[in-house]
Amino acid sequence: MCVLFAPVSCHRNKTQYTLTSQGFSTLLRDALVMMAGSTLRKVKSRSWKKQRHFRLLEDGMTIWYKSRWAGRGHSTCEYFSITEVEAVREGHQSEVLLSIAEEFPADLCFTLVFHGRQGNLDLVAESTEEAQAWIQGVRKLIHKTQTMDEKERLDQWVWDWFNKADKNKDGKMNFKEVRKLLKMMNVEMNEEHALHLFTMADKSESGSLEIEQFVHFYKMLTQRDEVWKVFQDFSGDGEKLMLEELENFLRTEQQEGEQSAQHAQELTDRYEPSESGKDGAMTFDGFQMYLCSQEGSIFKPEHRQLHQDMSQPLSHYFISSSHNTYLLENQLRGHSSLEAYIKALKRGCRCVEVDCWDGSDGEPVVYHGHTLTSKILFKDVISTLKEYAFKVSDFPVILSLENHCSVEQQTVMAQHLSQILGDTLLTTLVDGLIPQQLPSPQELKGKILLKAKKIGGLEVCLDETLTDEVSDEEEMANGECSDDPPAESLGHNAKVQNMNLILYDLELSDLVVYCKSVHFHGFEHARLHGKCYEMSSFSESKAKKLAKEAGTDFVQYNTKQMSRIYPSGLRTDSSNYNPQEMWNVGCQIVALNFQTAGLEMDLNDGLFRQNGCCGYVLKPDFMRDGSTQFSPEKPDGKQGYKPLRLSIQVMSGQQLPKVNQKEGSIVDPLVRVEIYGVPQDQAREETSHINNNGFNPVWNETLNFVIHTPELALVRFVVEDYDKASRNDFMGQFTLPFTCLQAGYRHIHLLSRDGTAIPPSSLFVNISISELT
Ligand SMILES: *[C@@H]1O[C@H](CO)[C@@H](O)[C@H](O)[C@H]1NC(C)=O
Ligand SMILES: *[C@@H]1O[C@H](CO)[C@@H](O)[C@H](O)[C@H]1NC(C)=O
Repeated sequence: MCVLFAPVSCHRNKTQYTLTSQGFSTLLRDALVMMAGSTLRKVKSRSWKKQRHFRLLEDGMTIWYKSRWAGRGHSTCEYFSITEVEAVREGHQSEVLLSIAEEFPADLCFTLVFHGRQGNLDLVAESTEEAQAWIQGVRKLIHKTQTMDEKERLDQWVWDWFNKADKNKDGKMNFKEVRKLLKMMNVEMNEEHALHLFTMADKSESGSLEIEQFVHFYKMLTQRDEVWKVFQDFSGDGEKLMLEELENFLRTEQQEGEQSAQHAQELTDRYEPSESGKDGAMTFDGFQMYLCSQEGSIFKPEHRQLHQDMSQPLSHYFISSSHNTYLLENQLRGHSSLEAYIKALKRGCRCVEVDCWDGSDGEPVVYHGHTLTSKILFKDVISTLKEYAFKVSDFPVILSLENHCSVEQQTVMAQHLSQILGDTLLTTLVDGLIPQQLPSPQELKGKILLKAKKIGGLEVCLDETLTDEVSDEEEMANGECSDDPPAESLGHNAKVQNMNLILYDLELSDLVVYCKSVHFHGFEHARLHGKCYEMSSFSESKAKKLAKEAGTDFVQYNTKQMSRIYPSGLRTDSSNYNPQEMWNVGCQIVALNFQTAGLEMDLNDGLFRQNGCCGYVLKPDFMRDGSTQFSPEKPDGKQGYKPLRLSIQVMSGQQLPKVNQKEGSIVDPLVRVEIYGVPQDQAREETSHINNNGFNPVWNETLNFVIHTPELALVRFVVEDYDKASRNDFMGQFTLPFTCLQAGYRHIHLLSRDGTAIPPSSLFVNISISELT
């Protein structure tokens, strides 16, 4: 078993934990109302509306609720933490609340929206004042959690655990309760050792720990030996790092070069908690605080922000794109929902899909045709887009239309688009000229672009035939399995549709400017006749085949025209394909089922985590030049080919999440590093597993990789619970572009399967990147 605590001499916490910051300091009127508790109606549907008693607990973070009349003993009580809440919406701002709008006025209604894929909580208060107290109160608390620093976050985390374990709510924990808590926290330690620490923390010798003593106990438990060693290596007196010593550390280990001197001063100002240390020295506490911060994390801080050139043609960017955006679940019987659009847009998605069909009363509807998925109104989807399109990014949104509607309803669609979106919908050329290349995200800021069929080109050559304008995806809707059936084989439906197009579609067609859907006729044809504003859709298998057989052609094609890739129609479970293969050949719109968690969405989130999460990532230069010879199959043929060696020393893990809720089960974690990129870069290496320790495992193993095309590579860190009898269980992951890696001693803050943060779970690694010689 690994060392759980450092020698007592390392324990130099000059700072006293102050737990006043939570809740009580913001004891505003609203919080008081919330703590006193309110009866709110929880609404699940038009017919399911039940009263529940809601209360904010004393920690100022946990909201707890149960049915009002539930008897003792078997009353089911539920709770959630403010940290799980993303936003509060006021009024009838969810499909459920809209459906009961006539029964309950807007000023009583509100919706709590959660991070990740967890559903909303729709609530109705009994009075406007009460509704306001909860709306404003929760908003303030969310703001507070978002602005907490590392230390406050950790305090909060320890508080949460304490509250969870303190079953009789007397504010104290005896040894038995502490032991139970350690199990909950994923810690297996021998009883004697635990008792020893407990006794040390129990200064009042009362046989139980109060919250402050518990924090002390927790700190002893989480002494970081490996961090202490690094600190010792650079500290002259073993007590603190003088500015020059810290600078030396930043230069030699963190490879920060020139900036080291100034950075050392900044870090000391920012992270050193003790007053005495502030004048030019950093204590161990400050050092650990820095290493655990976002700034000390594996992700280059300057790459998190918007930092790329946004003035290049749209075709020069990878664009975060969603498929079947309206679905919250799978595509056979799932639920179509406006929430799905909101969730995708909030995640930075910049290309959404809308499948339109004729609805009753002349109103077009959106759903997955020929299936049991529920339907939503086209006009509601467009209103939602209008409201949420630019909440997290100003850059343009592409609305990809799959049109299955009759003449009449297409006209209705065109009217809704114009009326609801107004100026937001781009309907004219940005400079009035026929473009030789697409406009840039910068030029198109705040605009929604319609991607659909268009009669004629921008040059208004109306004699163009339309017989091949059926997109591959509509072919899919007609039940195809092969990739590219000739138009003649499409059967009656498709032909009628083509006929319709020719007959009536002008009004809708006129709204299409830069994203005209066309059929793909091969790279040669595109080279000769392709227009920059024409784009084609490819099924994943077709794109894969082209990427393999004609990688360079595909890369060249994508410098000028955009391509959209969509999942195979056989993926009825809404699973995803690997987007990396498509990015390798420069495809921009690689549409994934955002509702489906897993590796593929991790890669998408990983790629788009850079550049301010704005949904656009500039492709590497060798994918932006029309005469490029780059082929992902032969990365060494590229000009300026410079492979790199990546060496990752996986040192330790901190407070890994518990996967199996079974009482008494403790995880056996291992870390795997996976590289995604050009075929030659695909690789994975893993550490051995550590038995029975999810709390502070130490691996200390080095994994080595050679990366041939660093500009395209993504690095994924996965933690799994080893299982020798069956598949390992997923515990957490973090994915980022290779170009965003920071060298040196770094923490990786892990994410859940859903992509949400799970603090304070992290990995501690030592990274070095060097040229291959
Ligand atoms: C980790 O490995 C380094 C050398 O690679 C060694 O010096 C150190 O003692 C090891 N630490 C542990 C806890 O095994
Ligand atoms: C971390 O990596 C650097 C560079 O490879 C190496 O010099 C250093 O010894 C490593 N640290 C530990 C604790 O092994």
